[in-house]
Amino acid sequence: MCGIIGIASNKSVATNIIQSLKKLEYRGYDSAGIATIVNGDIDEKKCIGRVDNLEKILFKNPSNGPLGIGHVRWATHGIPNQANAHPHSSEEVSVVHNGIIENSNELKKNLEKKGYKFKSQTDTEVITLLLTDFLKKFDLINAINKTLEKLNGSFALGIIFKKYNNVVVGARRGSPLAVGYGPEENYLGSDSYALKSMTNKITYLDDGDLCVLTSGKVEFYNLKNIKINKEILTLSNDKHAAEKGDYKDFMSKEINEQNITAKTCIKEYVDQLKQDINLYNFPIKPEIINKIVLIGCGTAYHSCVTAKYWFEELTNIAIEVDIASEFRYRKIIFDSNNLYIFVSQSGETADTLAALDLCKKNKAKTCSIVNVVESSIARTSEFVLPIHAGPEIGVASTKTFIGQMLVLYILAIKISEVRKEISRSDYTNKINELKKLPDLIQNTLNCQDKMQIIAKDFLQARGAMFLGRGLSFPIALEGALKLKELSYLHAEGYPAGEMKHGPLALIEEGLPVVILAPKDRYFEKTISNMQEVIARGGKVILISNESNNIISENVRFTLKIPATDDLLTPFLMTIPLQLLAYHVASLKNCDIDKPRNLAKSVTVE
Ligand code: F6R
Repeated sequence: MCGIIGIASNKSVATNIIQSLKKLEYRGYDSAGIATIVNGDIDEKKCIGRVDNLEKILFKNPSNGPLGIGHVRWATHGIPNQANAHPHSSEEVSVVHNGIIENSNELKKNLEKKGYKFKSQTDTEVITLLLTDFLKKFDLINAINKTLEKLNGSFALGIIFKKYNNVVVGARRGSPLAVGYGPEENYLGSDSYALKSMTNKITYLDDGDLCVLTSGKVEFYNLKNIKINKEILTLSNDKHAAEKGDYKDFMSKEINEQNITAKTCIKEYVDQLKQDINLYNFPIKPEIINKIVLIGCGTAYHSCVTAKYWFEELTNIAIEVDIASEFRYRKIIFDSNNLYIFVSQSGETADTLAALDLCKKNKAKTCSIVNVVESSIARTSEFVLPIHAGPEIGVASTKTFIGQMLVLYILAIKISEVRKEISRSDYTNKINELKKLPDLIQNTLNCQDKMQIIAKDFLQARGAMFLGRGLSFPIALEGALKLKELSYLHAEGYPAGEMKHGPLALIEEGLPVVILAPKDRYFEKTISNMQEVIARGGKVILISNESNNIISENVRFTLKIPATDDLLTPFLMTIPLQLLAYHVASLKNCDIDKPRNLAKSVTVE
């Protein structure tokens, strides 16, 4: 992951680099660093941990260069310490890098033979020293190309030079990179979000592209070293969504605004007058689809698993779900009548992008469901269904999970209607029920206080379990993921019926077990599984839309969520689980928006 920023200007750039790095912290926060050119020399400053630490260093010891690069790190090669923090500089060049150089060991050995000494354990430093070496014999562009030719793996790079002290160079292979255009200065950044406070005029680099920025112009070169022109996009201004407002953290804002997320998404897709779903230019005729394959990672994968139940219920299409990091290495039999759907909040997840590339290479029909519409996954897929959730800053996905599920559900009912697998009246009923969802989400959000009380029970626990059947099973997986990533408490999500095949052994006196039991066709079965847990000492938290006092006997807490169409219960079940994870983490004083070891956009394998 890691975040990169570069600015070519005529005035001091350190303040803007720091502000942009703060925006990029969602990509990594193991260390931060900056390099500028001061009095003709490279001035590098770096620190362990957050950008705030770097800001303090710069406050005491300013760096006033008119061009520079900055970096926030999510450690891959080498522990998070000062020496491994980027930039990595020699006398001649300074480099920031996002990605992994797979042949770095081999390159390092060759450079050491030539007498070069390494200061860090990173793969990035080989780029610095290779470039330093090639600059002895070649001009700027040729030295860079010679260096890039040597690299295997993925990278987005930002580079400054002692000799060419008015340029910032960017290069992309496999990791995202964008250029921004300002008045009398130009920018390089890992994403448009980092650049948005400075400009809304953006160009995205494609794989193999190289860019050379000065304060007055930007030049692009392709793989063959030929100068190329690239499109400049004007981005919309959603500054407000990226501010915390009165909320303590982004995650509570993002959870609490999920009714608005749902409303916006529904408005984008549902034609209010015609009671129909808009789906123009879909890449494949729904009538001829043989199989749908849903692919994602983490929370996005859970939205895919949820969608499997919807598609199976509503269509006669065979459905497969796969984790992107597995899919990309499997021996897949592609079929031109299959549709491959890629789900990703960031649209930059390396595994998901690689799985998409594999499909494209095999000429498969692809569609992506993303939040960031300018992202690589959106641009690579044949067709994009945006989730319209606005920027999500908290590392844990919350509102975008709701958004991903919504788009998948909307797609399922539309495909079902086009294939005439549901009647027109069922279709209209489903749309009407869907329109009620934002209000139901808002009502469900009223369980805040109760979830805060329930959270206290988790503080002494050694772990927790989340159980559900049918559509509640993927939500159990998501509940467990949220709890572990935010509160660092071990948690398992399981299909309730699977407990007796092993995991029941984990149940011991006082273990918190969250049972998701909406009044659907699995209800009685799930309640029986719940009794098996209670009989073994599990402390049950029952979440249901059925208020049956008898069932609630021996249950430690019961939470009633609003009743809705069975197919829509996953949306409402999700909310108490997000709040539970939030409050447990908050009681444990964990960093809510930036859980340890994680990053928002996972652009490495
Ligand atoms: C968990 C979480 C991650 C992401 C996963 C995929 O809260 O956020 O599991 O869902 O890293 O990221 P995207 O959706 O950006 O592809």
